[in-house]
Amino acid sequence: MNNFTYFVPTKIHFGKGQIKHLSDLKESGSKVLMVYGVGSIKKTGLYDTAVKILTDSGLKIYELAGIEPNPRIETVRKGAEMCKTESIDMVLAIGGGSTIDCAKVVSAAAKYDGDAWDLVLNGGLIKEVLPIYSVLTLSATGSEMDKFAVISDMGKNEKWGTGSDLLKPKMSILDPEYTFTVSKKQTAAGTADIMSHTFENYFTKVEGAYMQACFCESILKTLIKYGPIAMEEPDNYEARANLMWASSFAINGLLSCGAEVEWCVHPMEHELSAFYDITHGEGLAILTPFWMDFALNENTAAKFAEYGRNVWGIDKDADDMTIAKEAIACTRDFFKRMNLPSTLGEVGITDEHFDTMAEKIKVRCSKGYAPLTKEDIISIYRAAL
Ligand code: NZQ
Ligand code: ZN
Repeated sequence: MNNFTYFVPTKIHFGKGQIKHLSDLKESGSKVLMVYGVGSIKKTGLYDTAVKILTDSGLKIYELAGIEPNPRIETVRKGAEMCKTESIDMVLAIGGGSTIDCAKVVSAAAKYDGDAWDLVLNGGLIKEVLPIYSVLTLSATGSEMDKFAVISDMGKNEKWGTGSDLLKPKMSILDPEYTFTVSKKQTAAGTADIMSHTFENYFTKVEGAYMQACFCESILKTLIKYGPIAMEEPDNYEARANLMWASSFAINGLLSCGAEVEWCVHPMEHELSAFYDITHGEGLAILTPFWMDFALNENTAAKFAEYGRNVWGIDKDADDMTIAKEAIACTRDFFKRMNLPSTLGEVGITDEHFDTMAEKIKVRCSKGYAPLTKEDIISIYRAAL
């Protein structure tokens, strides 16, 4: 196990009724920028609840509404400008990962003299932020407890993740009931996203991080058990609660402690979203089994077999390679059962931009569990067509 520093300053209030803790925001001042998506929080009544608690607590509310799935840099710039001109004290995101990511970069850009896009390209430029709060409504990205934010400039077909410890929220409210209204499609995509975060950490060459690997396996089993239940019974509290806590823990740094690896499937998916604006979790569900096919070889078979035995319960008296292949088949089959797309063609993607996409991410993907060259990336995209 490698050396590591683990730092998560986010206070989590988990469970029913925890929205009352919005009154704690007054610790950070009196003016709050409330950031939310296109409409779900108004439909569910969460908007009214939040406004009442904030107003009763003496906070003045400013609003940045309509955050797009795959949030845009133009919206971030607008929010940062509002913070600067109105001398706003803090940012509150209510929504899924897109809303939280947008709020995070707004909070940093509000304290930065240059253009917000600089901060997307280089998290090291983030030196100060407005306090960030979140109320999570979709279990997927883990943005509620992590250091990352992913922003798109669709005009340039660019989508990049930035990261800074300063982007970790000060407080996040996780009430699983707020996810009862999440559609089947987004529930499935969210589950695939959490699985992918876990895989990106699990498939590491670092030896001896046994405990982290066990955590990964537990999270994967949790998702395999509860993802389908949440799809069939959207208001099943137990299922929604387990997905929600899995979402936070898959990417809050715990799983990668001492077992670092460069993520490969995520950069490949971000390129798909940058060019085709697809749902992140769907892109991951398509690419992951093809990445696994590519990554499996004589040297990695033991790890894939461990995944098969410990996560899928494959207990056949067979060699590692056979079990590894069965584990990949189980993964593919699970995504299909979740009604997720399994080919790029299903989401309208052709090979037109593969070369450009692979060129952009080839350096990032060159240090992963299974290091990829530009040609390898293209061949995985092609296999997924
Ligand atoms: O905009 P509204 O009306 O709120 O609707 C949203 C949106 O249409 C809807 N939704 C959210 N909560 C709901 C709900 N609908 C009904 N009931 C609710 N309770 O769901 C749709 C998708 O929302 P979005 O926030 O886009 O989804 P998600 O949470 O999956 O976030 C995706 C974004 O996060 C990035 C992705 O790349 C993508 O841009 N990621 C962020 C990461 C991070 N910060 O660490 C890591 C991830 O790997 C990922 O890259
Ligand atoms: Zn993700």
